[in-house]
Amino acid sequence: MQRVAIVGCGFVADLYMRSFAAHPDIEVVSCYDHDAARLAAFSAHWRVTPGADLASVLRAVAGTGLLLNLTNPRAHYEVNTAALEAGCHVFCEKPLALSLDQAERLRALARARGLQLGSAPSSVLGEAAQTLAKALRSPDYGTARLVYAELDDGFIPQAPLEEWTSESGAPWPYVDEFRTGCTLEHAGYYLSWLIAMFGAVTRINAVSAEVLPDKRGVTAAAPDFSVAVLAFEDGPLVRLTCSIAAPHDHRLQVVTDAGVLRLKRAWDNATPVTFYKRIRVRRRLMESPLGKRVRLATAKTHPKLPRKGAAAMNFALGPVEMLAAIGAGRDSRIGGDFALHLTEVTLAIQNAGLEGGAYRPKSRCEKMEPMPWAV
Ligand SMILES: NC(=O)c1ccc[n+]([C@@H]2O[C@H](COP(=O)([O-])OP(=O)(O)OC[C@H]3O[C@@H](n4cnc5c(N)ncnc54)[C@H](O)[C@@H]3O)[C@@H](O)[C@H]2O)c1
Repeated sequence: MQRVAIVGCGFVADLYMRSFAAHPDIEVVSCYDHDAARLAAFSAHWRVTPGADLASVLRAVAGTGLLLNLTNPRAHYEVNTAALEAGCHVFCEKPLALSLDQAERLRALARARGLQLGSAPSSVLGEAAQTLAKALRSPDYGTARLVYAELDDGFIPQAPLEEWTSESGAPWPYVDEFRTGCTLEHAGYYLSWLIAMFGAVTRINAVSAEVLPDKRGVTAAAPDFSVAVLAFEDGPLVRLTCSIAAPHDHRLQVVTDAGVLRLKRAWDNATPVTFYKRIRVRRRLMESPLGKRVRLATAKTHPKLPRKGAAAMNFALGPVEMLAAIGAGRDSRIGGDFALHLTEVTLAIQNAGLEGGAYRPKSRCEKMEPMPWAV
């Protein structure tokens, strides 16, 4: 059995527990939340032993296990630091930290202690991301020339947010979401895929702004819209958009010399990747309306989860990959330089402001090794 412990027993922790149910070789040995009522509700619902304090939960997995930091973003740095100092390998929900300086310190601490530090999202290890990456490694679909990646969530402040609760009863934390901002919360869902496929980002031209001035009366809200044009070490230009204002649209479209590779759902590991070949019809040029689904050579990838609420994602994929890496003594795909670079690029987009301007990341990472089943 592989040992995992959870700090932060809120909304997303339930999605992790549901995902771990599809991985019987993983045991959640302990959990902790500084909100005693939340800890009691979560541990009773999932029958996980509640820890008396943070230190005891860290002790439960120090060494060979994995600590999952599922706290709110403003607590990530503090909890990650405590966990690394206690000798734990750490998987942290996004973002790793709220500043580059903090993220660099965490990376240095992990390296100095010989520990792994990885960051969500895990969807880059999922079937849809791996299928798209494989298509782009193959000559069959043409060279990628331009990518449009949309992470527009709809007009979220007008949604019935009070009715969004998790399985064990945690409310969706909209105050925290509005203060953290949709770019820090969501850009990683496609940025991780793009960095995995095209390597490090070399230049960012971004704008971010608050376009909805009143979000349920929440003060000190972060930008609720951003758009970035990104250049990569080995890939095409990408336009990445995040908002909680524009109509829901999570399409990713890769324009190649031969047509368009397209998928529609960022938060569904099994969403089909479809290729629309470019064709000439009399004097017109168009993408064929009849797409052809891109398939891997195997159907054996990872456990899929049914759609629950907004997402059909297996949140355990990242922790499972990290535990495999720890066991094999190799660096995790989603840890180290990859996690630091993803954090730096996300922060640069979020912090761009209305004046924008070019930003060149300090950090870099290699493209991601494909999962063995997607080679
Ligand atoms: N809500 C979602 O749909 C969703 C989806 C994917 C990822 N995430 C990410 O998951 C993380 C958590 O989000 P959430 O929605 O579960 O938030 P949440 O507010 O529902 O839960 C966070 C929990 O962490 C606890 N906590 C905060 N600081 C702590 C500390 N120092 N020590 C112990 N416990 C502490 C809080 O009491 C709370 O119960 C965020 O990074 C978010 O970006 C959220």
